[in-house]
Amino acid sequence: MMSAPLQIEGNSITIEPGHSLQGEVRVPGDKSISHRALLFGAVAEGVTTIHGMLAAEDPCRTAECLRAMGVAISPIGDKDQPVAVEGVGLDGLQEPGDILDCGNSGTTMRLLLGLLAGRRGRYFVLTGDGSLRRRPMGRVSRPLCHAMGARIDGRANGTLAPLTVSGCQLQGGVIGTSVASAQVKSALLLAGLTASSEVSVIEPNCSRDHSERMLKAFGANVQVSGDYGRHVRITPGQSLRGQAVHVPGDISSAAFWLVGAAITPGSRLRLHHVGLNPTRIGALEVLRAMGAQLRVENQTQITGEPVGDLVIEHGPLGPFSIDADLVPRLVDEIPVLAVAALFAEGTSRIQGARELRVKETDRLAVMTRQLRAMGAVVEETADGLVIDGPQRLRGARLDSETDHRVAMSLAMAALNAHGPSQIQGIDAADVSYPGFWQQLGQLRMPGAQES
Ligand code: S3P
Repeated sequence: MMSAPLQIEGNSITIEPGHSLQGEVRVPGDKSISHRALLFGAVAEGVTTIHGMLAAEDPCRTAECLRAMGVAISPIGDKDQPVAVEGVGLDGLQEPGDILDCGNSGTTMRLLLGLLAGRRGRYFVLTGDGSLRRRPMGRVSRPLCHAMGARIDGRANGTLAPLTVSGCQLQGGVIGTSVASAQVKSALLLAGLTASSEVSVIEPNCSRDHSERMLKAFGANVQVSGDYGRHVRITPGQSLRGQAVHVPGDISSAAFWLVGAAITPGSRLRLHHVGLNPTRIGALEVLRAMGAQLRVENQTQITGEPVGDLVIEHGPLGPFSIDADLVPRLVDEIPVLAVAALFAEGTSRIQGARELRVKETDRLAVMTRQLRAMGAVVEETADGLVIDGPQRLRGARLDSETDHRVAMSLAMAALNAHGPSQIQGIDAADVSYPGFWQQLGQLRMPGAQES
């Protein structure tokens, strides 16, 4: 069967419904793991080779910032070549001659704040795009300053970028975080690498644990305890050793195809080699609870991370409930799960998801606004969404509002609307998923659905 070409014009795409999604997909490398491999590799001794790194805007920002501090990193983007990072050691980062521009990437800014706070005698200025300059940085700068003695300053009492960091000797401590955030936890662990004593981080809920896994693999002294690993300790004094890192496919990118296939009649997709870290697979739990035709095959481990193939088919779907305990395991997948809810029989509820309001955009507000433009009835609450399904969507003019995950989620809704939709601002997808629109064109098969 021939795939059905898509109309892309400048920064917008027109999607005609009436197609299924079929074929084999290799989603790009995991974004969280790619950032960490670059950062940990930069301060390790020796060379780190990163296989399957995500060559998207966000990790490229991390790489550029590290290069500006004297770290040699080989060119990124050649699929067949691993990225080589020549580690400069725990205290080898040089003071950059200019500001560090983190672009749209919260992970770059928050993890760098932790890493740079302890670089004694060096001064750093971090900034980002309009979205990043509005996002809360106090969740990182406050515990770093108040509990560990870091010197971070900036707008709104050092809680909004641009931020300055005057590197100094940090002290250890026990830090309870108010939100389950892997970015906050990772920043504190990175600061802990050279603190004067142990750093203990206690989260309200366990966030993604890629830092703990990878820091251990690099030789750091990290201990995880407490229910579901909410308590993480790092003991300074251990240097990191460069490693070969194999990056699995990003389950947050896979989620668009999983939902797309689950809701689009006639669809069947196989997604190869997707990361299945237990702290990331909440969307699979939700899809299973909805009764989706989903199978996991060929499970194995690479560089300490579980991976497997996911096979998904269209079928009838029931509603789901997401609460605060589940949110950390699927925080980036909520926009596309909101789309799934529109095609499920019954009332789906998302609660305890206030964090979505401080992502690249306020994703609860943006998804509500955009889905309403398609005629959807969506109830927006303070910390979530309530959606009664199934609903009939109409094709509409839509806008990513600069948010990569919104852009790709809306594409899945547009595939199942009545009439064509035009999505503006599709370039946003490059932040985490370069080639997404081309891949959509390849997987879309004509004629399997009535519109
Ligand atoms: C990330 C953690 C999550 C997630 C983001 C990537 C990470 O953010 O939303 O896309 O790589 O640590 P929070 O730490 O703010 O939950």
